[in-house]
Amino acid sequence: MEKKHTHTEATRRDFLKTTGALGAGFYLGGAMTSGNAQAAEALALKGGAKAVTASAEGSTRWPIYGSEEIEAVTALLKDPGYGPIAEFEEAWKVFHDCPFTKAHFNGTSALTSMLFALDLPAGSEVLVANYSTWFPVVPMRFFDLVPVFVDVNPYTMNLDLEDCAKRLTGKTRAILAVHWFGLPCEMDDITAFAKEHDLIVLEDASHAHGAKVNGVRIGNWGRMAGFSLQGSKPLPAIEGGMAMYKDRGDFERAVTYGNYELPNTFPDDSPYRKYQGTAFGSKLRIHPVAAILGKFQLEKLEERNAAGKAQMKKLNDRITQLPGLTTQYVREGIERVFYSKNMLFIDEAKAGMSRENAIAALQAEGVDVTAFTWTLLHTYPIFGESKYWRQMPVLPDAVPGCDQANRQAIQLPYWTSDQPELVEQYGDAFEKVWANRKSLA
Ligand SMILES: Cc1ncc(COP(=O)(O)O)c(C=O)c1O
Repeated sequence: MEKKHTHTEATRRDFLKTTGALGAGFYLGGAMTSGNAQAAEALALKGGAKAVTASAEGSTRWPIYGSEEIEAVTALLKDPGYGPIAEFEEAWKVFHDCPFTKAHFNGTSALTSMLFALDLPAGSEVLVANYSTWFPVVPMRFFDLVPVFVDVNPYTMNLDLEDCAKRLTGKTRAILAVHWFGLPCEMDDITAFAKEHDLIVLEDASHAHGAKVNGVRIGNWGRMAGFSLQGSKPLPAIEGGMAMYKDRGDFERAVTYGNYELPNTFPDDSPYRKYQGTAFGSKLRIHPVAAILGKFQLEKLEERNAAGKAQMKKLNDRITQLPGLTTQYVREGIERVFYSKNMLFIDEAKAGMSRENAIAALQAEGVDVTAFTWTLLHTYPIFGESKYWRQMPVLPDAVPGCDQANRQAIQLPYWTSDQPELVEQYGDAFEKVWANRKSLA
């Protein structure tokens, strides 16, 4: 039994698709109508010609650096120093229109500093998406915070607020939103929920640099946010991280956690000035080379996001006309980006074939597609071992949203350069497989 989608727009789309009413849909009730040459062809799986013949070499190349980065890094090597760090932080502030930023040597150190800045009593509970990474969750043990694993909406793969509501206790203090694979969480709803329940909103924005909700960039919704700038990310510095803060107190506390040299740069009345030199035991400063890469990549971010999104839209608009095939649901007001993969879902009942059979047929056509199955966060051994936690994480009994996403998701490549031939041929391959879906049932 699949979880019901509550969004009316998606329901309308599904209706149109199952009835074959959209203009570009060639199939009615599984039978081919005229005008689709692909459908007449035999599946590659059954000896026919492959639909995808274009080379994909270099199509997912990332990160991409140019002569600007090379020149600036070379200049740093000739005259070493830390200047690029402040320049990068300043550029980030301007781009995001935020008052406080701190660059770190990776996303984990940015997110860990953010958790320290929370300064919450031991045993405080933080709602975290189960369909997520461990990077901002495992460090909660350092500060006696308790991760509470929450289910995701299987249509977005982001936090399910209905499940959040069920997991509230008298100790819940914060909610950590992760914008999964380029799709921002519905931050307006999350902030309204947090306000109602007096929770602090935090963001792990490592997968969606530059994305927006209601015109506001992600990272600006939470009280604090952390970004990974690792080499695969939409804004790659090979290794790097950035944290954003709205509040001066959070900023000074977070910065003091891992920057022994900065407390005496705070205003005279800062309670953290006295920790100059010792800090709190970590050293989490970004490497200046990474700061240079981050600054140049930030300048190119919007253009690259827009080009990538336009290309994936071309393919996705075409193939999601096919019954049972959808992308991560993008609600009105949300401006997504793409990161690393193009994620889609196959609803087997509507598609009339299993995900496994569809993938096998697509692969035979030359499509680079695999099932996407995420290892649910709560299943990692560390979250169940009392040796590593003074306050044990709260594990869920059931996660139907995560299970559904894991049953239905498939991943296609995110092409980071213009690939018109691949777009065309992937579209042909999907249409051919769907035209033959009766034989794959
Ligand atoms: C969602 C998410 N958060 C945090 C991180 C941690 O970032 P880093 O690898 O830069 O420490 C990652 C890294 O892959 C991530 O995917």
